[in-house]
Amino acid sequence: MREQRKVTDSYWLRTAPGPSHPALTEDTDADVAVVGAGIAGLSTAHELARTGLRVVVLEAGRVAAGVTGYTTAKLTAQHTLVYDRLRRTRGPEGARLYARSQSEAIEHAAGLVAGLGIDCEWETRDAYTFVRDPERADELRAEAKAAREAGLPASFTTETGLPFPVAGAVRVTGQAQFHPVKYLRALTADLLAHGGRVYEETRVVGLSEGEPCRLTTESGATVTARDVVIATHYPVFDRALLFARLSPRRELVVAGPLGDGPDPEGMYITPEENTRSVRTAPYGADGQRLLVVTGEHFTPGTGEVRAGFDRLTAWAEQHFPGVRLDQAWATQDNESSDTVPMVGPFHPGARHTYVATGFNGWGLSGGIMSGLLLTALITGRDCAWHALYDPRRLKSVVREAPSLLKNQAEVARHFVGDRLKRPAGVDELAPGEGAVVKADGERLAVHRDDAGALHAVSARCTHLGCLVAFNDAEKAWECPCHGSRFDVDGSVLQGPAVKPLERHELE
Ligand SMILES: Cc1cc2nc3c(=O)[nH]c(=O)nc-3n(C[C@H](O)[C@H](O)[C@H](O)COP(=O)(O)OP(=O)(O)OC[C@H]3O[C@@H](n4cnc5c(N)ncnc54)[C@H](O)[C@@H]3O)c2cc1C
Ligand code: FES
Repeated sequence: MREQRKVTDSYWLRTAPGPSHPALTEDTDADVAVVGAGIAGLSTAHELARTGLRVVVLEAGRVAAGVTGYTTAKLTAQHTLVYDRLRRTRGPEGARLYARSQSEAIEHAAGLVAGLGIDCEWETRDAYTFVRDPERADELRAEAKAAREAGLPASFTTETGLPFPVAGAVRVTGQAQFHPVKYLRALTADLLAHGGRVYEETRVVGLSEGEPCRLTTESGATVTARDVVIATHYPVFDRALLFARLSPRRELVVAGPLGDGPDPEGMYITPEENTRSVRTAPYGADGQRLLVVTGEHFTPGTGEVRAGFDRLTAWAEQHFPGVRLDQAWATQDNESSDTVPMVGPFHPGARHTYVATGFNGWGLSGGIMSGLLLTALITGRDCAWHALYDPRRLKSVVREAPSLLKNQAEVARHFVGDRLKRPAGVDELAPGEGAVVKADGERLAVHRDDAGALHAVSARCTHLGCLVAFNDAEKAWECPCHGSRFDVDGSVLQGPAVKPLERHELE
C-alpha cells in the first residue's frame, strides 16, 4: 500500500509568507467594505482604492489563504470546454463577451505586474484542453471553432508538449501562469499604499442592508459602508437563491520537483479521468521546475479522499517518471448552474450590495474580472459584460432548471437521507478516523485523534442543517450541501457557515 502522504498548506502559501494584518476590534466606517481577501475581494478592493474611495477589507482568516492560495494558478481565458456551450446557451455575443472579459482581466493583471514591478513568477504559456479518447476529438474541434469565433487565438491540434499522445487538443496561445500568493501580497501592499485597510481574523457574521449598510463581525465590532461586496467564495449571506444555484466541488493537488524529465511547457487540462490539470513552476535556484497536477474532484463530504490522492499520484508518476511528489493539498470551487460566474448586484432589490461567486474552477481570471466589473458598477461606469455575469439573470434560471433541481435533490438527500444510514459506533473508531454517530437522540460528529482522544461536535452544519461527513485525508468535517468545512474541534474552516459546530462532551 502507498505510504500516506501528509496533506499540507499549499506550495504557494509556504513560499510567500506575508505580514499579518490586525483584527478589527472597534466600530469603523468606509465608502466600500469588501468581505473576503481572496483574488476576487482583493482585486475589487485594490481597483476601488485606486479610484480614491476609502476601502476596508474584512477577512475571516489570512490574506490569500482561502481557495486562491491553493489553486493550480493558471491565468487563462480557456476554461476547459466553455465556449461551445456558451455559444449555444448565451449566443455568439455572450461567448465573445466572456472571452473578452477574461482576456482583458489577464491583460490588466499583466499591466499591474509590469507597472508595480510585482515579482510573482509570471510566465507566458499556451493553454491546452486535451482528450485522449478519439471519440471526443470532434468535441474539441467544435470547441476550438467556438473559442476562435469568440475572439481567442484558438486552434485544434494533436501536437502538445505532453509526454503521451492525445487524440485532440484546443490550444489557446499567449496565456499566463503565476504565483498567486506573491501576486496578492503585492496587491495588498499597493492597496494599503492607497489608503485601504485590511483586517484579518475578522469574520463577518451579519449584514444589514440600507443607506448605509452595516456589517457585524464575530467580535461585535461593526463596519458601516455605503457599498458592500461579498467576496467570500461561497456567499455567506443568501439573498437571491444563490444557494440553489451553486454547488461546491472539491479537488486534489499533488506537486513536487519535476526531476530530469522534459518540462511540458504549456498549461494543460483534460475533462477525462475525473479531470487532470498540469503545469510547472520555477523551483529553486538551479532552474529546476515544480510539477503541479490537479484532479479527482468530488462533492465535499462524499469523496474517498485518500484513494483520490493515490490515483492522482499514480497518474503523475506514470507520466512524469522523474518527479518526486512530496506535496499534497486540496481545495474547492463552486459550480454555477449555468457555468457562468455570478458577479454583480447581490439580489433583485440590491442597491448597495454586490457579490462575486460561482467561478467554476476558473476564478483567478474570474476574480480579476470581478474587480474590474464591480468597480465599474460601484463607481457608476459602464461595463460591456455586466449583463452576462449579473447574478439576477432570470432567463437563464429557466435553462438552469435541471441542474437547479439536481442541486436541491442533493441537498435534500444530505439533510434527510443520510440519517437513514446506520451510524458507526464510537468504539469502532480507530485513531485518525471520524464518523457521525447517534448519542442522546442527537447526531454527533466524533473524531478520534492520533493520541486516541475523542472529540465530539454537533453533526448538523450551522449553515442550513445538513449532516457533515468526515474527510479522513484532511481531518475535517465537510458539509455536502454547500461546502462548509469545519475543523475537528468544530471551528469554521470554510463558509458559507459562519458559526462553529457546537462542542459536546462524550460520556
Ligand atoms: C484545485 C483547484 C485548482 C484551481 N486552479 C485554478 C486555475 O488554475 N486558474 C483559475 O483561474 N482558477 C482556478 N481555480 C479556481 C480559483 O482558485 C477560485 O475560483 C478562486 O481562487 C476563488 O477566489 P475567491 O476570492 O472567490 O475565493 P477565496 O480565495 O476563497 O477568498 C474568499 C475569502 O473570503 C474569506 N471569508 C469567508 N467567509 C468569510 C466571512 N464570513 N467573513 C470574512 N471573510 C470570509 C475566506 O477566508 C477567504 O479568504 C482552481 C480551483 C480549484 C479547486
Ligand atoms: S453548507 Fe449549507 S447546510 Fe452545510
